[in-house]
Amino acid sequence: MTKLAFREAVGVLAVAIFAAFTASADQPVVDLRTWPTPEIDLSKLPDTPQNRLIKQGQELLVHTPEYLGPEVADPAKRYAGTNMACASCHRAAATIPYAAPLIGTYGAYPQFQPRFGKNVTLENRINLCFTHSLSGRAIPEDSPEMKAFVAYIEYLSRGIPKGAKLIGEKEMVLEEPKRAANLAHGEEIFKQQCASCHGEDGRGQRVGAVGDHKGYAFPPLWGPDATSESASMFRILSTYQYVYVNMPFGQASWDKPALTKDEAYDVAGFVVSHPRQPREGEVAKDFSNPLDKPEDFPWGPYVDQFNETQHKYGPFDPIRAEDAAARDKAKKDKEVKEAK
Ligand code: HEC
Ligand code: HEC
Repeated sequence: MTKLAFREAVGVLAVAIFAAFTASADQPVVDLRTWPTPEIDLSKLPDTPQNRLIKQGQELLVHTPEYLGPEVADPAKRYAGTNMACASCHRAAATIPYAAPLIGTYGAYPQFQPRFGKNVTLENRINLCFTHSLSGRAIPEDSPEMKAFVAYIEYLSRGIPKGAKLIGEKEMVLEEPKRAANLAHGEEIFKQQCASCHGEDGRGQRVGAVGDHKGYAFPPLWGPDATSESASMFRILSTYQYVYVNMPFGQASWDKPALTKDEAYDVAGFVVSHPRQPREGEVAKDFSNPLDKPEDFPWGPYVDQFNETQHKYGPFDPIRAEDAAARDKAKKDKEVKEAK
């Protein structure tokens, strides 16, 4: 080996070692806010078995209650417990930044899920929305419906490297007002800005009649056919972050919110103050490690001294401070234990 080749080899080795230690710095970043929106008119896709699956996945996502809702003729297919659709939250067939888009999601799993305290697959994550957001039961992982959902999410994710950091995914992480939500103010905002579509009673507006399995033109925000109390949309901060950049429909967008943060926070508090399908059975075991609980999770026990009302409506900074200290302590205790 020449001296130069040796120096190069050492250099390559050093780069490799450096890369191993800075894997996160090398993680590709994809900004969904500027990423070209995938074509959601699928009519031009050539007729192949895979493309049929992709189209079926989109159809299931947009018209969920027609195939998997509580009013479909075949009781075995009644997986969702509400007549809402996936797209009631995953707006525009899951293509809008900060409206829980499913672009890039295919390569983002397995991923840690604090609710279960472990890594979950994409299929598990889809079923989490069935059991929680749609207040229903899990669809079998090898079912044609599951394959169709996964195929559509793969289609939406094309071109995005596996494991990329996604900007614009899920909801927008936002600071909230440093106070408890004001429910009376929230009610005023609701009447002025939301009731025209979602109804004075928050029950939404059906496309047709009850029992026709056609679902909603405007989805319910609470009541017996809304998302369940185990869903993240029953938590004030998730609802606040979603509403701030998405509602009122047709007026707000992530780069041009229509409400102020105070208005969005208070109306979110008002929305989550109403009961929905109860959290019971398997889903009541969520966050079995209280250290993993989000600050706005409205059911104890907690690792801090704050009550369920403060966890439901804020203020959240005092909660965060105590929770961070508890996590820190748990981490140190674990290190001490492992060192022994
Ligand atoms: C009530 C609203 C709601 C409904 C209905 C709903 N979801 Fe979700 N879903 C969400 C929200 C909000 C998130 C992001 C949550 C978070 O912060 O992790 C999410 C996350 C997901 C994810 C993970 C996305 C990611 O970025 O990691 C998948 C996959 C998913 N949903 C699929 C579905 C499917 C399929 C359906 C229909 C069967 C559905 N969801 C119905 C609200 C909903
Ligand atoms: C012009 C009609 C309209 C108005 C006004 C409106 N929404 Fe919506 N909302 C929708 C539609 C339609 C959807 C379903 C998502 C989509 O199609 O983009 C939705 C979805 C939602 C969702 C997620 C799904 C669910 O049912 O939980 C929430 C939460 C929500 N709206 C809250 C609000 C709040 C709060 C306001 C008032 C600040 C509001 N909306 C104003 C039409 C409206």
